Amino acid sequence: MAKHQTLAVVGLGYVGLPLALLAERKGYKVIGVVRDEKKAEKLNQRIAPFKDADIEKYLADSQLEVTTDYSRIQEADIVVICVPTPVHEDYSPDLGPVKSASTGIGSNLKRGQLIILESTVNPGVSEDTVLPILEIKSGLVAGKDFYLAHCPERINPGDPKWHVENINRVVGSLESVGLEKAVAFYESILTGKVKPMGSLKEAEAVKVVENSFRDINIAFVNELALSFAQLGIDVVKVIDGAATKPFAFLAHYPGCGVGGHCIPVDPYYLIEYAKTKGFYHDFLMLARRINNNMPRETADLVLRALNEKGQTLNGAKVAVCGVAYKSNIDDYRESPAFEVIHYLQDYGADLRIFDPYVAKFSNVTSLDEALTGAHAVVITTAHNEFKKLQPADLKKYGVQVVIDGRNCLDKDKFKQAGLTYYGIGR
Ligand SMILES: NC(=O)c1ccc[n+]([C@@H]2O[C@H](COP(=O)([O-])OP(=O)(O)OC[C@H]3O[C@@H](n4cnc5c(N)ncnc54)[C@H](O)[C@@H]3O)[C@@H](O)[C@H]2O)c1
Repeated sequence: MAKHQTLAVVGLGYVGLPLALLAERKGYKVIGVVRDEKKAEKLNQRIAPFKDADIEKYLADSQLEVTTDYSRIQEADIVVICVPTPVHEDYSPDLGPVKSASTGIGSNLKRGQLIILESTVNPGVSEDTVLPILEIKSGLVAGKDFYLAHCPERINPGDPKWHVENINRVVGSLESVGLEKAVAFYESILTGKVKPMGSLKEAEAVKVVENSFRDINIAFVNELALSFAQLGIDVVKVIDGAATKPFAFLAHYPGCGVGGHCIPVDPYYLIEYAKTKGFYHDFLMLARRINNNMPRETADLVLRALNEKGQTLNGAKVAVCGVAYKSNIDDYRESPAFEVIHYLQDYGADLRIFDPYVAKFSNVTSLDEALTGAHAVVITTAHNEFKKLQPADLKKYGVQVVIDGRNCLDKDKFKQAGLTYYGIGR
């Protein structure tokens, strides 16, 4: 099948690029369509838009053609949409990129094509937003002249075990022929299993449920962290204890906030969609509120720890270690580090921000420079470089206060060395 087929991937970021390169390795001819010329140019020069050793290697060896010209869609048998699905300032879903991609595809749609939406959306977007745009722009009828499916991406950038090829997927479609075609496509490129769902909406709901599940569990342990800090109990030790139960408990750990393009965003898609149908997701809203509050709690820990030393945060030099939303990657989208920085600045702190992966938001060029003269250190990302920090490294610079926003340091070691250490809930 693959040898004779052309795939067009619209949007070549963390989701679209690994998919495009995988499909190419599996024998598809692949065309990439992106919005801006500069991005297309860089990809055609084989420069990856993010750091990832495997992706950089595959891209270097690839025949991928990247364009901003939607008319190239006409050459494809299958078109996959991988554009962003962010939220507006008021947390309402921003379907702008999905709509503009659908418009570009609809204007070039050909009979027999299979269109698959991979972007994360709330139930209803494929049918209520993508489908009408495709039909109006093309004059064709979905399920008869062309096929529409949804297969939410589950990729976890930086994960050494689970990657685009081996993660199981779910697929939903408007009707049975589209479903069969979409399942056959994913089975031709994946080693993971493909589960057909009963409808587009079911497939869409799977993804928002997965990410809401994670958000709620993190909110639960973040709440426990705040409570147990008052009770004098180390929440991490408790979670590790609970995790010895071999069933019905899944360990999640607290931290200075939830980041990335998925977990802090996707629940809003469900919350807002349900609201339009008259249902209020109190539980999801609460989880979002608790998690959104963690950066402020973290900044308050710096204030409190310095206070204990008889120092003020106003005017204190504070090293902020990490801007990326998770360890050892350069993705800073929705990173809670920005909020921690915001609150610390608001309190009048003088910040030295350093992230070895994200130079753009660092105002110093090394960890040494960040620590020199610092009164306090806040770990906002558990990059390996920060996890290696020892009490002696901090004492060398006269640092006396450590706020471990990722609970990635050995608490006892730092306390025994006479440093003021606060983690999140320990
Ligand atoms: N990043 C993740 O870990 C992850 C995991 C699973 C699912 N998702 C979902 O996948 C989708 C894409 O996320 P991402 O992380 O790859 O985003 P991204 O920002 O890394 O990449 C998006 C790509 O789309 C392009 N683009 C934007 N608007 C466009 C348009 N109108 N036409 C053509 N191209 C356009 C951008 O230039 C970029 O290449 C989102 O819905 C996200 O929720 C992301």
